[in-house]
Amino acid sequence: AATIGVAVLGLGNVGSEVVRILRDHARELESRVGAPVVLRGIAVRSVEGDRGVPAELLTTDADSLVARDDVDIVVEVIGGIEVPRKLILAALNAGKSVVTANKALLADYTGELAEAAEKQRADLYFEAAVAGAIPVIRPLTQSLAGDRVNKVAGIVNGTTNFILSAMDETGADYADTLAEAGRLGYAEADPTADVEGFDAAAKAAILASIAFHTRVTAADVYREGISKITSADLEAAKSLGCTVKLLSICERITNEAGEERISARVYPALVPNDHPLASVNGAFNAVVVEAEAAGRLMFYGQGAGGSPTASAVMGDLVMAARNKVHGGRGPRESKYADLKIAPIGEI
Ligand code: HSE
Repeated sequence: AATIGVAVLGLGNVGSEVVRILRDHARELESRVGAPVVLRGIAVRSVEGDRGVPAELLTTDADSLVARDDVDIVVEVIGGIEVPRKLILAALNAGKSVVTANKALLADYTGELAEAAEKQRADLYFEAAVAGAIPVIRPLTQSLAGDRVNKVAGIVNGTTNFILSAMDETGADYADTLAEAGRLGYAEADPTADVEGFDAAAKAAILASIAFHTRVTAADVYREGISKITSADLEAAKSLGCTVKLLSICERITNEAGEERISARVYPALVPNDHPLASVNGAFNAVVVEAEAAGRLMFYGQGAGGSPTASAVMGDLVMAARNKVHGGRGPRESKYADLKIAPIGEI
């Protein structure tokens, strides 16, 4: 059988783990795919220093790596928007499959990328972009493709859930808990994307787009972060038998005129203690899906971090590699419905 060549763009936490799995489990992956899966190269910003991988695999020339004839699948884990967007489009336009974990890019460019993939009949997979290791993209795009999803709601940002859970548990205030989250490596040096809800809004846009077969971008999502939440808010929630969670909620709603709209919103919400999302603590994520025939489903697990995210990337990589070997194709982009976004006042 053919050999499947893989290019990995980025060697951060996720990229390093993807590279490790590709190298350590090459045999197993070959048997699952039906052909050897060979790492052709890794694009990095700098090849200086010991990166823990054979130096000959490293290159700073991502464009040439993507264009190589022996690269069939491109794994994008560099982050950012313009650079990965161009690289992914170049790969798709050349008929290569793409696996990406880039939620910020997908939130705004799913349409453009999906069109490029469709034109070349290439695969575009992004399970890792929402909720790390937790399968949510594949259930929505495949398992539930014959059902009608009415609502997707969940905790899709580990950093803020860690902070809110710790505030709830210790009674400490927001600033001290954020500082502690930084010391423990949960919050980034610049925590804005997480604590102000931008990350959760990007994920909500992706979830709403695939759940409702429409186009929702991050700008369409109503967004409030957690930076104004105080220990007094947590106390008040407790006295009501609730806790506070930063929720991403995407649902179909019908307005007074009987028109169907999509509502996508991110905000710190009061969650009753007996709701399944109330007991999701620490950096964990959970997503509840409600579908017409399936009823309520819940997905729970590790939504961030190098290894859990790499698990999702590897799942996509195996799917894309199998399709290359056996001639199949991943879930097609549905012909999308032109559903309107509800103004927040309508909810
Ligand atoms: N910053 C994100 C989080 C990482 O805290 O959930 C995973 O996307």
